[in-house]
Amino acid sequence: MAPPALAFPKGFGWGAATSAYQLEGAVNEDGRGPSVWDVFSHQPGRIRNGDTGDVAADHYHRYVEDLDIMKDLGLTSYRFSISWPRVLPTGRGTVNTKGVDFYHKLVDGLLERGIAPVVTLFHWDTPQALQELGGWENRDCAKWFADYAHTMFTALGDKVPTWLTLNEPKTVVDVGYTAGVHAPGKQDRSLANVVGHHLLLGHGLAVQALRAANGKGRIGAALSLSPTYPADSSPAASAAATTADAEENRRWLDPLLRGKYPQDWLDSQAADAPVRAAIKDGDLAVIGAHNDLLGVNYYGPTHVTGSGGRVMQHPTSQATWQEIYPDGLFDLLTRIKRDYGDIPVTITENGMATENALQDQDRITFLHDHLAAAHRSIQAGVKLESYHLWSLMDNFEWAEGYTQRWGIIHVDYASQRRTHKASADWYKTVIARNGV
Ligand code: FCB
Repeated sequence: MAPPALAFPKGFGWGAATSAYQLEGAVNEDGRGPSVWDVFSHQPGRIRNGDTGDVAADHYHRYVEDLDIMKDLGLTSYRFSISWPRVLPTGRGTVNTKGVDFYHKLVDGLLERGIAPVVTLFHWDTPQALQELGGWENRDCAKWFADYAHTMFTALGDKVPTWLTLNEPKTVVDVGYTAGVHAPGKQDRSLANVVGHHLLLGHGLAVQALRAANGKGRIGAALSLSPTYPADSSPAASAAATTADAEENRRWLDPLLRGKYPQDWLDSQAADAPVRAAIKDGDLAVIGAHNDLLGVNYYGPTHVTGSGGRVMQHPTSQATWQEIYPDGLFDLLTRIKRDYGDIPVTITENGMATENALQDQDRITFLHDHLAAAHRSIQAGVKLESYHLWSLMDNFEWAEGYTQRWGIIHVDYASQRRTHKASADWYKTVIARNGV
């Protein structure tokens, strides 16, 4: 096999990512309780074509086949999420042993195949029983989340090397509580910002819980980050890009990695904004306690006009919100190093949606170009240790249902047959050569 043009460091982690509600199905089996996504997806008009995650890719039943697919690809890392209501059907209290057993089997199956588990604790599926108590609007939810995290650390702590607390709190705030397009479907920006603070507090309390459980794994969060650029050379666009950067990036990075909210973001909140009262003394010390690593989800950049509007300057994908710009990944990773220091970084998600095709040359180009940018960032000194493409296989893409296909493995939802796309064969070679 010819050596790659761009060789990655020895031991670089080659991975793929999924999440529980998008992949597992089996929503009423073995004692699982409902989450906000079960309720939301069954509300008429919420999801394209009325799709739900009831069956999804049926991973709960087919996980052994899926583990074998990962092994065949040569993955050395696999990022998945635990369904909170599968292990705690009402979100707290009695543990559902059968739910915990499923994750034991999954983790054991990964370890037997030489694949390192990267476990996300919250990929948006808040237990419905907790939602009825206010969910993340309720400050107590941070504590409930930490208790759930503690349960998982106790169960799996000796086998899991890497934990991620939250997946993309920004998306919950912007899409679940502002646009109302994701569960729980609210449209209230001031409430959304309170939710954002409670999510961060939940992260901090979960980090404390891992340390208290003497967990030996490392822990961090997976943030959706987007480098922001002025759309033109005007001073107004430049100022607007700084404001957008606060919303997109700094309001999440600064609390986690510096223990404070950015002053410009705080100043932009109204004097009577509920988030001001939600931030209590001591919270930021909890939120800003040491993280072992940072998970970066990168899908594209943000270009901002002088009036604060967003414009696209590069091609899109089947997901029309996506702007394809590989150099943005380099800019983002080097910026993290410059502004936040040498924290180990893992790319927890990166990928594109394509039409239903097995010959996905566009995805191969996308992955190649982003890996080249990742490689360049390593040359520039970024402590990038692994890469997880989104996604291992086609799955339930939230409000878009099954229309958008993000996998390198094709899923025929009628038969649940899995088939390699061209990108899967390509990625297998990348892994075997340790580079592109
Ligand atoms: C991210 C989500 C992930 C998936 C991709 C396409 O925002 O974390 O679950 O939906 O987008």
